[in-house]
Amino acid sequence: MKNKQLQDDPDLTQTDGIGHVFDEMSDRYTDVMDSMVPHYRKLSKSMLGLLPESFNPEKVLDLGCGNGNVSMLSTTLYPHAHHHLVDASEEMIQLCKKRFSGTPMTYDQNFFQSLQLSPNTYDLVLAGFSLHHLTAGEKELFFANLCPAMTAKGIFACADLFLNKESAEHEQFLVDWKTFVINSGKSNADWNWLFDHYGKYDIPSTYSDHRNWLIKAGFNRVELSWNDGFWGCLHAYKA
Ligand SMILES: C[S@@+](CC[C@H](N)C(=O)[O-])C[C@H]1O[C@@H](n2cnc3c(N)ncnc32)[C@H](O)[C@@H]1O
Repeated sequence: MKNKQLQDDPDLTQTDGIGHVFDEMSDRYTDVMDSMVPHYRKLSKSMLGLLPESFNPEKVLDLGCGNGNVSMLSTTLYPHAHHHLVDASEEMIQLCKKRFSGTPMTYDQNFFQSLQLSPNTYDLVLAGFSLHHLTAGEKELFFANLCPAMTAKGIFACADLFLNKESAEHEQFLVDWKTFVINSGKSNADWNWLFDHYGKYDIPSTYSDHRNWLIKAGFNRVELSWNDGFWGCLHAYKA
C-alpha cells in the first residue's frame, strides 16, 4: 500500500493527507463511488445535463477531478472547450493524464486552498463530491475566490452530500447510508472503512450554507437542481 505511514499518522492535517488518501484508492475509485455514494452517476450527469441548452463554455475547471469521471462527461458534451483539472492526489492526476492522453487539457496537482485563480477565466466550474473535504470556513473563502475567476455567464455546478454532521437528521442519515452500502453488495467491513474515512476526511455542509456562501461570494442565483434527501446537485449562476 502506498504512503501507508502518511495514512496512519494521526498528526497529519486533512489538507496535507487528503491527496495520499485518494492516491491509495485511485485504482478502485469508480467501484467505490458506485457502491458507496447513492446516485453517484445520476448526480455526476446532473451537473452537466441540467445546464441550459444554449450554454457553450469555452473554459472548464474541474475541481477535485479524481480519475476524470466528471471531466469525461464534460468533454463529451463540450469537446471544443478547454478543460483544466485540479486534484491534490498525484495518482488521480496521472490516471487523468492517461485517460485523456489524446485530448488537450491542463493539469494542476494542487489544493483548492492554494489555487491562484485568474480573474474572469472560467465559464463552467465543476465540483463532483470534492468540496466536502473543506471545512465550512474554507468553503466560504473558496467561493469568494472562485466567483471573480468566473466569466459573466459563468455557472458553478456541484454534486455532493448536503448535510451538517451536527444536525438532528444525521443519525438516521447514517442508518440509511449503511443500508445503501450493504444493499450494493458491500460487507460490514467495507462500511466500517467508509465510516472511518467519512469521520476523518469528510466535512459536509448543508445546501442552505452553500447557497448563502455562494450568494455572498457574488453569484446571482443558486438552485438545488436535483436531489434525493441530502444527496444533491446545485447550480450557481453569475448572471
Ligand atoms: C470523492 S473524489 C471526487 C472525484 C470526482 N470529482 C468524481 O466526482 O468522481 C474527491 C477528489 O477531490 C480531491 N480533493 C479532496 N480534497 C482536496 C483539496 N483540498 N484540494 C484538492 N483536491 C482535493 C481528492 O484527491 C479526490 O480525488
